[in-house]
Order: sequence, then C-alpha cells, then structure tokens
Amino acid sequence: MEGPDPLAEEIRTRLTSRQPVSDEQFDQLLPVRPRIRSASYWSSVEVAQTASRWLTEAGAQRVLDVGSGVGKFCSIAALSSSRRVWGVELRPDLALAARQLAQRLGAEVVILDGTLESVDPGRFDAFYFFNPFAEHLAEVHERYDERFPASVDGFINDVRIVERWLRAAPIGTAMVSYNGLGGRIPLSWVVEKSDLVNGDHLRLWVKRGLDDSNDAIIEVNEYLLPASRLASLIHGGDPRVKGNSLVARLVSPGSS
Ligand SMILES: C[S@@+](CC[C@H](N)C(=O)[O-])C[C@H]1O[C@@H](n2cnc3c(N)ncnc32)[C@H](O)[C@@H]1O
Repeated sequence: MEGPDPLAEEIRTRLTSRQPVSDEQFDQLLPVRPRIRSASYWSSVEVAQTASRWLTEAGAQRVLDVGSGVGKFCSIAALSSSRRVWGVELRPDLALAARQLAQRLGAEVVILDGTLESVDPGRFDAFYFFNPFAEHLAEVHERYDERFPASVDGFINDVRIVERWLRAAPIGTAMVSYNGLGGRIPLSWVVEKSDLVNGDHLRLWVKRGLDDSNDAIIEVNEYLLPASRLASLIHGGDPRVKGNSLVARLVSPGSS
C-alpha cells in the first residue's frame, strides 16, 4: 500500500480553493525530464489557473487541452473547476506521465493518445492551446526531444485542422490561447479577455457569429491581423512581412 502523499495533498487543497501555488512546488510532482523543461514547455500554475477561470466564466463544461504534454494544465484546470478535463498528446511517455500526475493529485483528467486527427472536436465546448505546434518551427536544440516529427508542412497541417474545428464549432464555443495558437482564427471568434501573463499573451476567444467569411485572424508577433490585410501587405512588399514564407502560406484560405 502506498503511503501518504503530503506534497500532492497540500497542492490539491490549494488548487481546489483557487489559491496560488508556486511552479517550483508544483513541478516537484513531475518526473525529472519534464520538470527540467517545465518553464518553456508547460503552462505556469498562474496561467493554468487564469485560463481555467476564464473558461469556467465563459460557460465551458468540456475542455480539451490540445497538446497536453505532462498534463499540468489538465490537472490544474480539473481541480480549479471541479470538472473533468481532457487532453490529447502525441508523445506516449508524456501522456502516461499526465495520467500519473492526475492520479496523484486526485484530478479528474482523461488523456487521449494521438494527434489531432484522432480527436472528435464536437465532443468539446472549449479548447486550450499553449502554442502546441511551435515545436515544428523550432531549432533542433529547442525541441523537447528528437522524437517530434517537426516540419513546416506538419505545422500547416495542424493549424489547418484547428481552423476547421473552429469553423465547425457551434456559437458559444470558447478557447484560450497562450503565447499564440499559431494559425488562422476565423472572424466569427472574438477576443473577450486578454492579459499579459509571465511575458506572453493569454487570450479568451468565444465564437460569437456565423462563419460567413473565409477571412481569418493571424497572429504575427504580438499583433492580431486579418489574413486579407496581411495579403495586401505581402502584395505591396511591406518590409514587416516580406520574405515571411509561413505568413504567406497562412494568408490563403485552405491552400497549403
Ligand atoms: C507547449 S506544450 C503544452 C503542454 C500543455 N498544454 C501545457 O500547457 O502545460 C505542447 C505539447 O503539444 C504536443 N503536441 C504538439 N503537436 C501535437 C499534435 N498534433 N497532437 C497532439 N499533441 C501535440 C507536444 O508533444 C507537447 O507536449
């Protein structure tokens, strides 16, 4: 029989009563490798608590963390909201570690193994994205490990799938993006809350209208710009976007 787990118990109590927990303390619950990479790869406790609160206020009941990693957001959100939270993760060792973390904390978390292709987005009324596809564009030494099948085509594929999810979602569906989602966000989605947390943008988006336009918002650095506007900047040779082949691929709806 396993003995008592005072660290997990203390963190659980603080999270369920929505009190702050330091990342240093929370990360002691993680295995060594994901703990070492925590600051760059996983949401901070503050980001996860704020995102979870915003999603709850927006009426979310079934939240999916897209690219859940070691499950830091999932466990924190499940305990903060007293609801089950789902994640999908392509790395099997991280999916397993996420399940173990949730079990240790007594958080109701379901981690799906696989990629976006294995997800039925219609099962969820809210999504969380902590810049999950950026690793495709990262230098080799910046990647979590060498097993990630990184490519620009992979990035475009993933953000196109998410765009289709967002277009198909019913009005009222919510999402939170942290440090960008990376892709095209249909104009039917509206930023309802925004904050700078730990130096990066945290945004609550809610779908408020019909998808009667192919245009979409694209994040370029800290700016949110319509693809149509970016297309005219590229066409005009504007130096801020000139030579940015990724933006050039994202401005056109559906083509990759
Ligand atoms: C920046 S981490 C974010 C982790 C977690 N959401 C959090 O906030 O703590 C991104 C994670 O997404 C996963 N990932 C990237 N692309 C994915 C895809 N297409 N399908 C499933 N998981 C993916 C990576 O393996 C990585 O664990």
